[in-house]
Amino acid sequence: MSFLKKTDPEIARLIMLEEKRQEETLMMIPSENYASKAVMQALATRLTNKYSEGYSNARYYQGNKIIDQIETLCIERAKKLFNVPYVNIQPYSGSPANSAVFFALLEPGDKISGLTLASGGHLTHGVPKVTFSGKYFNSVQYEVAKNGWIDYDKLEKFVLKEKPKLIVAGTTHYPRKLDFKRFAQIADKVGAFLMADISHVVGMVIAGVYPNPVPYAHVITTTTHKTLRGPRGAIILVTKKGLKRDPDMGKKINSAIIPGLQGGPHNNVTAALAVALKEAGKKNFLRYNQQIVKNGKELANNLVKMGYELQSGGTDTHVMVIDLRKQKILGNTAAEVLEEAGLVLNRNKVPFDPNPPFYPSGIRLGTPGLTSRGMKEKEMKQIAQWIDQILKAIIETKNKLGVNIDKEKKKSIRNQIVMETKFLKNINTEVKKLCKKFPIKSAY
Ligand SMILES: Cc1ncc(COP(=O)(O)O)c(C=O)c1O
Repeated sequence: MSFLKKTDPEIARLIMLEEKRQEETLMMIPSENYASKAVMQALATRLTNKYSEGYSNARYYQGNKIIDQIETLCIERAKKLFNVPYVNIQPYSGSPANSAVFFALLEPGDKISGLTLASGGHLTHGVPKVTFSGKYFNSVQYEVAKNGWIDYDKLEKFVLKEKPKLIVAGTTHYPRKLDFKRFAQIADKVGAFLMADISHVVGMVIAGVYPNPVPYAHVITTTTHKTLRGPRGAIILVTKKGLKRDPDMGKKINSAIIPGLQGGPHNNVTAALAVALKEAGKKNFLRYNQQIVKNGKELANNLVKMGYELQSGGTDTHVMVIDLRKQKILGNTAAEVLEEAGLVLNRNKVPFDPNPPFYPSGIRLGTPGLTSRGMKEKEMKQIAQWIDQILKAIIETKNKLGVNIDKEKKKSIRNQIVMETKFLKNINTEVKKLCKKFPIKSAY
């Protein structure tokens, strides 16, 4: 950092401020995590200088003898860890990975089916109108039942009627385990490709505390910066089942990445990913992911006991969504006020949300970051109490100010709520103390 401070003090200062923010707040956004120190070191190397369009031993540029070895090692580690025959580690991130699968296996206009955003799906799973997946493909989405769970019998009827060519089994906030076997049975009935997007749960899949889609899906995508704790990026895995269905599936995926969608791979990211994959094979990675789930359940159970409504009534994983309609609080307000106390999470839609994504009715929170810092059940209990105290204080402030949900859509009103809500400073002091007890360096 000392060199950067001299060359560009402005950026160095902002980086230090962001590092301080991360040190002193609770990272509860379930898709975020702390990359390990070894991963960070690999990222900040001269590998970033090299162009390597193509694949190992088939590049469009010279000078790639070492890069070839790094990419090959990364692929071999991924193949071994997931027990799959074909891997592409070049996608720049999760969204390009999902796009590449669609472009490899489908024609524009083909029918796809993923979970709706409000139920827990991702934008790339076919959200209509505003995403490539909903614009260039004919997207017919399924949703959870009224109780917040996926109803597989209903899904089967829907799929038999719609006959999509590809089904996505993957989520960003669905708190329960997916039944990949049942997904596969349903997809097989209509000859659909089954794509599992395990971006959120990949660490838990590796650790064996979440169902493994490898025996059931044709193709699997995952980001690498969430529960895997690697660099920002993504992997596409083609399973034995996928290659049986189409022996060229791997080649098609490779071509969809380059020349289809991308140019040169980010070689520093490839090296960092290889490091993360090695770390994910260690015993403490397993223990870490077991603890993520224990912490998730503890946090959710405490919130439920306090009377909060969670999607599906709780969680089996790292993630949960609190429906704040009963409290008559907008997700934005809750997230913004909680941030002021040092609890950083995100506004989120709830199933059948009458409100739009920017003003949704819920908040999403999770335990991967907290667990990386070494926090356990005791700390989850404390965090649930802080959340409860703050949400109750928001209700009190809103009543005092006479603010309803409509008024709350105004940023100035939400700022006023932040300013007038009680306890935030006190809780923030306590949060900082907790963060000091579990510093980010303990996540390494
Ligand atoms: C399930 C799922 N798929 C794909 C993505 C997209 O990943 P990225 O943000 O890296 O493009 C996300 C991101 O949160 C996700 O949760």
